[in-house]
Amino acid sequence: MDLKQANKFYVTTPIYYVNDVPHIGHAYTTIAADILARFNRLRGKNVFFLTGTDEHGQKVERAAQERGRSPQEHSDEMVVNFKSLWKRLNILNDGFIRTTDGEHVKTVQGIIQMLWDRGEIEKRKYFGWYCTPDERFWTEKEIVEGNCPDCGRPVEQIEEENYFFLMSKYQDRLVQYIEDNPDYILPETRKNEVLGFLKNNDLGDLCITRPKSRLSWGVEIPFDRDFVTYVWFDALLNYFSATRYLAPHGEQAKLGDFPVRVDSDWWPSDHHIVGKDILTTHAVYWSTMLMALDFPLPGNIFAHGWWTVEGKKMSKSLGNVVDPGEMAGKYGIDAFRYFLFREVPFGLDGDFSEEALARRMNTDLANDIGNLLSRTVKMIEKYRGGIVPEPDGSKDRDSLEKKIKKWFDPESDEEIGKKYKACLHRLQFNLALQELWKIISGLNEYIAASEPWKEKEDAVLSNTLYILAESIRITALYLYPFMPDSANKIWQQLGLDEDIARTNIEEKGTWGNLKPGTKVHKGDALFPRIDLKKMFSKESPAKKPGGTHGITDKQRKKPVETEKDNLISINEFAKAQLKIGKVIAAERVEGSNKLIKLQVDTGENRQIVAGIGKSYAPEDLKGKSIVVVANLKPAKLMGVESQGMLLAATDDSGEPVILIPEKDVKQGALIR
Ligand code: MSP
Repeated sequence: MDLKQANKFYVTTPIYYVNDVPHIGHAYTTIAADILARFNRLRGKNVFFLTGTDEHGQKVERAAQERGRSPQEHSDEMVVNFKSLWKRLNILNDGFIRTTDGEHVKTVQGIIQMLWDRGEIEKRKYFGWYCTPDERFWTEKEIVEGNCPDCGRPVEQIEEENYFFLMSKYQDRLVQYIEDNPDYILPETRKNEVLGFLKNNDLGDLCITRPKSRLSWGVEIPFDRDFVTYVWFDALLNYFSATRYLAPHGEQAKLGDFPVRVDSDWWPSDHHIVGKDILTTHAVYWSTMLMALDFPLPGNIFAHGWWTVEGKKMSKSLGNVVDPGEMAGKYGIDAFRYFLFREVPFGLDGDFSEEALARRMNTDLANDIGNLLSRTVKMIEKYRGGIVPEPDGSKDRDSLEKKIKKWFDPESDEEIGKKYKACLHRLQFNLALQELWKIISGLNEYIAASEPWKEKEDAVLSNTLYILAESIRITALYLYPFMPDSANKIWQQLGLDEDIARTNIEEKGTWGNLKPGTKVHKGDALFPRIDLKKMFSKESPAKKPGGTHGITDKQRKKPVETEKDNLISINEFAKAQLKIGKVIAAERVEGSNKLIKLQVDTGENRQIVAGIGKSYAPEDLKGKSIVVVANLKPAKLMGVESQGMLLAATDDSGEPVILIPEKDVKQGALIR
């Protein structure tokens, strides 16, 4: 079968060096690829998700020696760490390539022969500065006053013969290609860096071999048995070679089984996801290798940012390496997966903090989605004997039900599916999650505003309960790529026994697929709440040296002693008049992207200017109940008078989060 016609989707991670144990950086890329793979499976695409290990080269050879193993034995042992972590993190890769696989080695040999025959490779004298103890070459630019930049010991100039891939001749073609294909390298800032580099430097040719006398742990060159090809040339080709023997067999493919294929209908890949440090090797070496081979280039190379811990690079010597398995064990796989992709835009660097993870778990997961599901299922049990009722569209109100239905209406610009897809297309995972959370928060507000517990009319209540359950069902489908287990649990509680992983989102992601009459099953809370005080107090294990994964000083709570100095009396607090207000209208203050002007009903009409414009759109604020400081002296902000202030918390990323009452309360109600 022709896979190209059959809608294929091929995504890769870098292949990881086996000389290290997997850490959060490896997990980050692999989960990202898993999210894309799962989403594309839901879309009915034929998916090939490839990850693996990079096993050749000097570092591995040396690490093996140190452990008293052969490089193959060493690799066989280390690869298990990766495979078992991927299982643990719920990674559903279709293929796992090892560069020591016989099929890969044969493909590399075939390709290097092809390039040699075509005159794309030349044998030349290689000059370089060699560090004998490190067994490593450096360029003139890299050495520091005649010494090795790594160990500081003197380097010597060495001259030896080697094979070079004639990369330089593709420089102009590559610039043109990148300019003609704006999504080829993402994010855009990284694309500009690559273009800047290519336009301001002469690209050299790439030395792709080592004499066997110095490095034997590589792939033997078929036309000169005295040489091996190593690291990048061998490693990058994995993306192609895997399509020949690891890719699923079209229709016959089952997840987890890998029949041998000899053609490469799967090439090119749709996305290569890599860290920012290895972008050049992919954007420049790999792209030019493919040009020389006359193979199509991948759809996209995406370079993500790096995680630091307390602002520092992770390193074994600092003892701050975050173990993904430990985090998943402590907080749950889904909470860990969610946090990595909600906290920081993919592409930017982020600082890992266990406390921030726990906070998100409490707010976004336990509170927002967890509560929404449990309240909905409970109400269906209480008011309809656990049976999803028949909806009555004639009861839809403009401000409530009709607004919600737009999120699921393909004809509407508000539709979640379109926005979510656009975000995932550009790997904007945090924005995709933000879209889902607009819905989740919106549904929680809907419960507060429609007060189902007070509803007298049967048809209105049934309509509300159906709308809640159906909205949650569809939202869970979109959550699935990020949090597969939790999405499944949501479906189970809604009484759906289909396997969400095998659902087609185009068919089942539309409104009305939830059958009235379905029996819901109240289950355990989706996410447990973390006792932050207990977990992150000074005495807690997470705060002890060695167990502190990244809680910055700023995030640490102030010790109680210093808070005592700032205590106020109840009389002082009573001076502040806090009231509930309802937002009647909201618009941006001209010339400011931060300020929003609100007309608020607090028993009397007042105008409030608030600095929340980066986190909230005016249209999201209308109708919301907020907390207002009502007796504040009026002040002018950018020339606009503000008669009071609204209360907001600041979340971990510094964004304001408006406080809203847990239940609907009349405007003007005093807060004491
Ligand atoms: N073997 C090469 C890749 C060859 S691909 C044809 C390699 N391996 S690696 O194991 O060193 O790194 C793999 C990936 O981990 C890289 O994409 C790198 O960016 C990523 N990370 C390593 N540390 C990281 C963080 N602290 N944060 C995020 N990702 C990081 O390079």
